[in-house]
Amino acid sequence: MAKIAYFIGNWKMNHGISEARSYFERFLPEISKVDLSRKVVGIAPPFTSLAFARKLTEGSPVKLCAQNACFAEKGAYTGEVSPLMLKELGVEYVILGHSERRHIFGETNELIKKRVKGVYQAGLTPILCVGETLEERRLGNTFLVVSEQLKQGLSELEKVEEGRLIIAYEPVWAIGTGVNATPEQAEEVHSFLRDLLASMYGKELAQAIPILYGGSVTPENIADLIKEPNVDGVLVGGASLDPEKFLKIVSVAI
Ligand code: PGA
Repeated sequence: MAKIAYFIGNWKMNHGISEARSYFERFLPEISKVDLSRKVVGIAPPFTSLAFARKLTEGSPVKLCAQNACFAEKGAYTGEVSPLMLKELGVEYVILGHSERRHIFGETNELIKKRVKGVYQAGLTPILCVGETLEERRLGNTFLVVSEQLKQGLSELEKVEEGRLIIAYEPVWAIGTGVNATPEQAEEVHSFLRDLLASMYGKELAQAIPILYGGSVTPENIADLIKEPNVDGVLVGGASLDPEKFLKIVSVAI
């Protein structure tokens, strides 16, 4: 079966509304020229740019994504954003458990699993991020760390329907460093994650859950990464901030 490849741009805390406007003015006319018959393209702007991005991307093939979401639908959760509010805006995918959430803001597997459940229940698709630090890799604990993050992150989901879950493998040492995992390193972990998903949900469903790679993806390394059989797409930080670079990544032959 021909694969569907996912290209999700994570703007992190970049591009407020005026920058978002000039980004989409350059990005949207070009993206409509790319053959997207087997590709999904999404962008995760910061919360404050979401509504504006929604207006600009309406009617375009670009899917709107968020960078986090609360586990609850509403209530006394200062500083959080509800998955229902995101849904109302037209958001389809939500990045959860990103390493910056885990390492800078102290988010634990305990919290992330609640977020995954809340997002899933709201009808949005969680993009659950997992990945080891350099130290964990050096100690030979990569599989242990990612399997804990995956199992715990998904532990509150009673069931998973096809098309309703995405996993992103993002080795912490590769994020924002310019040092990407080699295609072989990525494939090794992706196939491990695929087997783990198969043990949880059966082979058929595991095959249908996209596993994205993230960490210093560029127009130069995308072609080799996407060739790997278990790399179903990429989560792109730095290179997604430049519309021309992100377009080059999205335009890769699959
Ligand atoms: P990067 O970030 O592409 O800048 O390494 C990836 C990510 O954090 O999702």
